[in-house]
Amino acid sequence: MNVESLRNDFPLLTRTFHGKPLIYLDSAATSQKPTAVIEAESEFYEQKNANPHRGVYALSEEATEAYEGARARVGRFLKAASPDEVVFVRGTTEAINTVAFGLGRSVLAKGDRVVSTVMEHHSNIVPWHMLRAAPGIHLDFVGIGDDGRLQLDELDRLLALKPKVVAVTFVSNVLGTVNPVREIADRAHEVGALVVVDAAQAAPHRPIDVGALGADFLAFSGHKTLGPTGIGVLWGRSELLEKLPPSEGGGEMIREVHLDRVSYREPPGRFEAGTPNVAGAIGLSVALDYLEGVGFEGLAAHEKKLTRRAYDRAMERFSDRITMFGPRPNGDREAVLSFALRGVHPHDIASLLDAEGIAIRSGHHCAQPLMERLGVPALSRASPYLYNTVDEIDRLFEALAGVEKVFAR
Ligand SMILES: Cc1ncc(COP(=O)(O)O)c(C=O)c1O
Repeated sequence: MNVESLRNDFPLLTRTFHGKPLIYLDSAATSQKPTAVIEAESEFYEQKNANPHRGVYALSEEATEAYEGARARVGRFLKAASPDEVVFVRGTTEAINTVAFGLGRSVLAKGDRVVSTVMEHHSNIVPWHMLRAAPGIHLDFVGIGDDGRLQLDELDRLLALKPKVVAVTFVSNVLGTVNPVREIADRAHEVGALVVVDAAQAAPHRPIDVGALGADFLAFSGHKTLGPTGIGVLWGRSELLEKLPPSEGGGEMIREVHLDRVSYREPPGRFEAGTPNVAGAIGLSVALDYLEGVGFEGLAAHEKKLTRRAYDRAMERFSDRITMFGPRPNGDREAVLSFALRGVHPHDIASLLDAEGIAIRSGHHCAQPLMERLGVPALSRASPYLYNTVDEIDRLFEALAGVEKVFAR
């Protein structure tokens, strides 16, 4: 993987802030976009824009073809059994809400249990929380050990209570932990639970094979995966999507509407009420072409190198004054680098780094239960991606040394 030449594909990376070249280290929040994706979206508007599935004229047919082509591309990315298992949504949040509320009105009844984990993003906690009111579920959470990994013995204890659903993230957006989804799915299936996988932080970094993972539903967002904002994917096993009630009603998702009754289309159309984000779907399919063109193997090796470098620099410069969260750098983990610097608030770190042109995230990262578990109000997070260099990691830690000096005065 040639990072220097690949950076030329990302126009935004040439920007400067406060007179310094941008060092973008917030890709876990959203990734930058290659020119190919930006151009694919504008080409759609310049050449193919029409409402898909509706018109019988040639332009609308082209729009339909492009949209359905994007669906097939996503299906191949996920190794789905059929493109019909791919539902286009706004993002991971909408995907999980669609599953949670669909199950809440079909599979789940008062007193049923759902198991999630303390390391989830709010989008894989709050929709389930909402089902506590109606239909009245119990929500249990698997904890983590000090190594940042899920406590699978606790999962077993909770599975013994026969939950109907296990909702788990593939990769933590704070710790970088890669969860053993296949193992979790196997154990969950033994007690008859459905497995919902949040792959928002996995899809940008590793190949996904929904069958091999043992998932029943899986969600990811286009904008974290080099694609546009406002487009994401809900994948579900055909026989489950067929039984899932839609959360939204409107145009295009129906078979027949009468004043006294309504019937719905087969999936995926049933879950795509209204005019879809055609340009976004096309942009996403081009993003997946780009990502697979780079290759996941090279990407993983590059990200491992950046993670290793970050840990080395952290220890050299800060020793016990810095705490790095998540599994050790040599294990199976993603390059999500959350840290706390003794005596300096994460917001101050992020502001002072911004003055150096460095963009990192600070806050609770939409994972307040995890912050509580870690005993911190907030954390700093640097999340590099394919376009970041080892030099940028070095500059991050140099700048952090400067931040520490400011607070030592
Ligand atoms: C693990 C995880 N799940 C879900 C989400 C929500 O994604 P979106 O805001 O694109 O719906 C995020 C976003 O940060 C995430 O990191």
